[in-house]
Amino acid sequence: MILDGKLDASVRAAALALQAGQLIGLPTETVYGLAADSDNDAAVAQIFSAKGRPADHPLIVHVADAAGVQRYAKAVPVFAQQLIDAFWPGPLTLILPRLPGAAIASTAGQDSVGLRCPSHPVAQAVLQACQQLQPPVWGVSAPSANRFGRVSPTTAAHVAAELGDGLLVLDGGACDIGIESTIVDCTRGVPVLLRPGAITRDDIERACGTRPLSMQELTADTPRASGTLLAHYAPSAKVRLMDAKQLQSALDVLGADARHIAVYHRSPLRSDSRHLRLQPMPGAPLAAARELFGLLRDFDDWGAKLIWIETPPDSADWEGVSDRLQRAAAAG
Ligand code: TXA
Ligand code: MG
Repeated sequence: MILDGKLDASVRAAALALQAGQLIGLPTETVYGLAADSDNDAAVAQIFSAKGRPADHPLIVHVADAAGVQRYAKAVPVFAQQLIDAFWPGPLTLILPRLPGAAIASTAGQDSVGLRCPSHPVAQAVLQACQQLQPPVWGVSAPSANRFGRVSPTTAAHVAAELGDGLLVLDGGACDIGIESTIVDCTRGVPVLLRPGAITRDDIERACGTRPLSMQELTADTPRASGTLLAHYAPSAKVRLMDAKQLQSALDVLGADARHIAVYHRSPLRSDSRHLRLQPMPGAPLAAARELFGLLRDFDDWGAKLIWIETPPDSADWEGVSDRLQRAAAAG
């Protein structure tokens, strides 16, 4: 059931459902989440089963404001506080040492917790309404509202299509950012970028004075982030990443016979086939991120067997989009 998230009655219904231990579909500025009360282990367990998500993949806890951190985190390093001050509310998740006893199911028993304060007005309204209830709901755990390994939803209709009509979904419009939040691990003394997103490595360095390290620069005991599994964000069609030259020669080889291929390109291309879907990629990384997941779903619906994508520029502001494309390509 999809409700208009702008209405107070919908927000209240969603908050009451969370308090009662039910799941809801919640819009955020990044992607839609499948949400439950972070401190209700039975409710959180339903998220794992609805998504088909392995139980050892921790969920992000969403809080209404920076004060919410104290309920879940044991300590906040200075650089983490700087990131909170600079980017909350917004598309940034921080991994912090977990307060013992808090959000146990949500963190899959790890001694760290992922915290995020979303800026989407509907998410904000629900989180604030949750705090007014008796008893209050202080944190809302929400992974992306898709089946495990699939493309994250960026509209309420995507959520309903993926998880069924039985779920209460608040409609907050199409997500502004379109790819999941940037995740920074703050438990290792220096910022470590676990998942790139709209807030870039450069942004993080500017805010806290330290350039975040990459996963690859770390040792094997780094906590796993499911967005970091190779076969993630996968549409049904097979995805290949190519540079402009490779793309043109692949089209030349197939000539008029090219069929069921969606091409997401930055450079001008030529083809004799009338059965291609040529989709120009926006020049701005934020615009590309915004449309990316919806477009991958569209390509599937159009009947694409192959999705050929021109490699984005190799710069920090494209890192989030490149990351999702590489994972989609690795899945096939
Ligand atoms: O934009 C987003 O972050 C969206 C919206 C709904 O807020 N949520 C989202 O959740 O992408 P999910 O569950 O799909 O991704 C959360 C990521 C996972 O890769 C998980 O492994 C990682 O965060 N994560 C959560 N807690 C963690 C922890 N304590 N240590 C390491 N990674 C953690
Ligand atoms: Mg996800």
